[in-house]
Amino acid sequence: MIVDLRSDTVSRPTPEMRAAMAAAEVGDDVYGEDPTVAALEERVAGLLGHEAGLFVPSGSLGNQLGVRLLVSPGQELVCDSLAHVARAELGAAAVFAGVTFRTWPATRGRLDVDAVRGLIAPDAGPYLVSTAAIEVENTHNFGGGTVQPAEQVAAVQQLAREHGLGLHLDGARLWNAHVASGASLADLAAGFDTVSVCLSKGLGAPVGSVLVSTADRIAQARVWRKRYGAGMRQVGILAAAGLYALDHHVARLADDHERARRLAKALGADPATVDTNIVVLDVPDAAGVAVRAADQGVLVSALGPRFLRLVTHLDVDDDGIERAITVLRGAIG
Ligand SMILES: Cc1ncc(COP(=O)(O)O)c(C=O)c1O
Repeated sequence: MIVDLRSDTVSRPTPEMRAAMAAAEVGDDVYGEDPTVAALEERVAGLLGHEAGLFVPSGSLGNQLGVRLLVSPGQELVCDSLAHVARAELGAAAVFAGVTFRTWPATRGRLDVDAVRGLIAPDAGPYLVSTAAIEVENTHNFGGGTVQPAEQVAAVQQLAREHGLGLHLDGARLWNAHVASGASLADLAAGFDTVSVCLSKGLGAPVGSVLVSTADRIAQARVWRKRYGAGMRQVGILAAAGLYALDHHVARLADDHERARRLAKALGADPATVDTNIVVLDVPDAAGVAVRAADQGVLVSALGPRFLRLVTHLDVDDDGIERAITVLRGAIG
């Protein structure tokens, strides 16, 4: 038995999800004629309380379109130093949109309005790069699945408003924040100009993210999506997986969260640091632990010399967690 805890992106579509995909009504989405894509975009925009949505192939593209709408070439985006958009999108905002970054250090990826205030430089004049937007990640991946504190989000939004800055939310795992905190998706997405959410992480769809914003911004994002080569045709078969996931895989995220806490407790991490489905372990020789565990069929990610990441998801059940605990205890030593 392989227990794959490297990421929640590794889960495979269930037979029921595949059946929903096979039955999907489709059309040419570049012509705006795919009814299932339109239904997904409308559904996600409604859930998040924004005017319109755009189906995109990946969370990275959702972020990139959001950032490009808010930041002009030669301006900067500020975010924390562990943010996915800064660390894991291969410099896309610089390469494609001429955007530069400055980052604040963040413990567990937690938002801290004082750090943001100390960093922003709106209208910086002819010598310094001007800040155009702030990016927030909720939950925070490399921070360990952290749910952002609501009062800090509100304070950062207030700061952005005072200085006329844009706000992008990377909500790849906003569903996890919703289930863990009890806050509505609309409340979690309120106050942001652009929000990207993923269907292919904890929700278990094979592909897909949705960017939401105003109808005007989404119309612009649609043009940029095509320009980036991501206009898609009969992709209702993929959107159907997303709709299925929204109906069947949101509430169950609570099981992933409970299993993550169980893993943390058994492996000596503080369960209080586990807000959602990601466990970060501080171990000597993380790469060595990952190799030893993999030899016994338990896959984990070594993301730094001492940084081991374990992510629970749809394809890991209680037996998988017990097996992972046994193997990882041995591998950590
Ligand atoms: C927080 C966050 N944002 C964005 C992404 C990018 O998603 P994708 O892999 O679909 O491009 C990820 C991927 O893991 C992520 O964790």
